[in-house]
Amino acid sequence: MTIRKTILSAAVALGLAAGLAPAAQAAEPGEVTDFRFSFEGPFGRFDQAQLQRGLQVYTEVCAACHGLQHVAFRNLSDPGGPALPDDQMRAYARQFEVQDRITGEWRPAEPTDHFPMSQLEGAPDLSLMAKARVGFHGPYGSGINQLFRGLGGAEYIASFLLKYTGVESEQAGVILYENAAYGGYVSMPPVLFGDDVVYADGTEATMEQVALDVSAFLMWTAEPKMMARKEAGLTAVLFLILLTALLYFTNKKLWAKAKGKGEKAL
Ligand code: HEC
Repeated sequence: MTIRKTILSAAVALGLAAGLAPAAQAAEPGEVTDFRFSFEGPFGRFDQAQLQRGLQVYTEVCAACHGLQHVAFRNLSDPGGPALPDDQMRAYARQFEVQDRITGEWRPAEPTDHFPMSQLEGAPDLSLMAKARVGFHGPYGSGINQLFRGLGGAEYIASFLLKYTGVESEQAGVILYENAAYGGYVSMPPVLFGDDVVYADGTEATMEQVALDVSAFLMWTAEPKMMARKEAGLTAVLFLILLTALLYFTNKKLWAKAKGKGEKAL
């Protein structure tokens, strides 16, 4: 019995190790640039215009392959996010066809529907990607940089889009592309070339700008409540400071008599 158990758990462990190997490979530390984003730091906030530009990049460039299945169209109108006006959000949703859960028929999406799943097999869903990928591994793989610079998910995505080396390699009939941020070869081809979108707000759509905008947008999809969380955190800290001050003075007042007497007695 015990031997069988041991063999079983060894087999499971081996299987797990084999299954995890590709993921572990993908997480090898690559070159990630520490871009500055408006949402960093305790007072950081999402830049609404940037999120709207990022949504445009996602729609025009990434959606051909990647889904955003955890994001509902109505969230695009949430304050703190891209905050599209209600009519624009509805019009945006209607561009997508979804299968009705009850009738099974295809119809234009409504605000309560979610973005479609990935269109290309093998292309991961991007809803949570900014939290699934870590940008800062150092120094020496200890991850201490994360304490000061954050996890770096948005930085990773931006670097990933910008750091194709141009080297390709064919493996079993599949072309793989070398990417310095990924730290190896990846099956996603380079998708940014410098003339990928035309922004309505007049921002120049350089490769870096486009990469930063879509990364900021994907940070929002992964953590839409970041601003509310930061505000709650700040309120808590302010409250604790106030409480500490009050307790300090109460304490002083309470003991003032006793201390005064003590000193006299001495
Ligand atoms: C032509 C299809 C295609 C397009 C367009 C595309 N991707 Fe990908 N993407 C893929 C595939 C396939 C993978 C899986 C690569 C792999 O694991 O080898 C991938 C993987 C990724 C990853 C994960 C990388 C990792 O660390 O595992 C990110 C992030 C990503 N894509 C972001 C984007 C963004 C942002 C856009 C739009 C600017 C985009 N992709 C456009 C096909 C595409």
